[in-house]
Amino acid sequence: MFSEQRTEMEESIRKIRNGRINRRSFLERVGAIGLSSAAAISLLEACGGNSNSTGGNGGSTTSLVWLSEQDTTGTYAALVNEFNQSVGKQKGIHVTSQQVASTDDLLARYTNMLRARSASVDVMSIDIVFPAQFAASQWTTPITDTQWPTSDRANYLPGPIQGCTYQGKLWAAPLRTDLGVLYYRKDLVSTPPKTWDDLVNSAKSASPKSTKYGYVWQGAQYEGLVCNFVEVLYGYNGSILDANDSTKVTVNSPEAKQALTEMVSWVGSISPLAVTTYQEEPSRTVWQNGDATFMRNWPYAYALGNDPKQSKVADKFDITSLPYGGSGTVGHSTIGGWNLATNAYSKNADASWEFIKFMLQPEAQKKLAINASLTGSLQSIYTDSDVLAKQPLFSKLGPILKNALPRPVSPQYSDVSDAIQRNIYQALKKQASVSAALSSLEKDLQAVIKK
Ligand code: GLC
Repeated sequence: MFSEQRTEMEESIRKIRNGRINRRSFLERVGAIGLSSAAAISLLEACGGNSNSTGGNGGSTTSLVWLSEQDTTGTYAALVNEFNQSVGKQKGIHVTSQQVASTDDLLARYTNMLRARSASVDVMSIDIVFPAQFAASQWTTPITDTQWPTSDRANYLPGPIQGCTYQGKLWAAPLRTDLGVLYYRKDLVSTPPKTWDDLVNSAKSASPKSTKYGYVWQGAQYEGLVCNFVEVLYGYNGSILDANDSTKVTVNSPEAKQALTEMVSWVGSISPLAVTTYQEEPSRTVWQNGDATFMRNWPYAYALGNDPKQSKVADKFDITSLPYGGSGTVGHSTIGGWNLATNAYSKNADASWEFIKFMLQPEAQKKLAINASLTGSLQSIYTDSDVLAKQPLFSKLGPILKNALPRPVSPQYSDVSDAIQRNIYQALKKQASVSAALSSLEKDLQAVIKK
């Protein structure tokens, strides 16, 4: 939500409270700034439901805007609604949620908003790769020990908490982690592949006989390509930066050459040429249409793929670890995930924390897992019997989580990412050879790291 829209929304709330507009014109006004009718009605209810009342708690209502990544399952919207009806009602807080499709677009929104010191969003979902960058600019309000005691933090996965920590402070709270997994059609593949060679052979024997394509993944030029590339790279024992010295660029290596040559070979053979335009959702569409034998995606695609109302492959697939190649002996997912942070310029920091706290609680974390197969940050959901019964994917995640590795950690992450995206994409599109792409990537990364 841009600041003019927010001003318009707040103005409409003021007017309906003062009896200066009626219900219909309130709904028209907030509809005109892009609020869905469900969100507009729930906002109206929070304002008292008619033209002259105050918030549901009898006092005034603090309206919060939560901007997040996309959730196609509707679970985020349901949790927002639950918050508004419970804690929100008691404490006079009303959350409106907005979603943006890709992490790159979300970053662009935040960067514009925060450089302008705008508070058009209160609670920001930020990708696991960005807390350090946001913290270095002091764009989020750190979470204190009083707000979130250490004893409770210990119940959450340590990796994501570490990912939100910068210079000893916690700049965001981990809502959920994420990890790349390999989806395979269990009706077509008897033994899931362990190596990339196995996958290629298996894909070639199933497609085009049984499915249109062998393997779909995320090859568009955006953050998802970084994830896909590092996963193959790590599986070949390669790296981007030296594990012991992050100022040393190690990407131009024989392992990286093997990994990138492998990926380039898929485009137009086991993968459609259009894979270089795919983000997560187009890959999932092809997959759910029954058109691919294998797919690389995040756990969110599990619940959706098993929904017979929208998927032709419900109950026909399973997941396994991503393959490895060359001298590698185990596949590695990259660690993804999303964190909730309060905009440092928000005037509603306490109310924002109330909402963040609600999303961290076991009930919300369990709903994310059961309704959307989202891998929450609360450790107990991984062994929860209700979760395991509804989403058997959780029983397979142990070893995948254990071998998952982060993308390079850097306070200049967006520049690191941009260099990887551009150069790897050129190789996939055959606009640069594998060797040329890797030496150009090496040079670009050296320039970023020297800054
Ligand atoms: C998922 C991950 C996130 C990653 C993004 C790439 O949302 O959780 O960490 O950056 O995909 O598209």
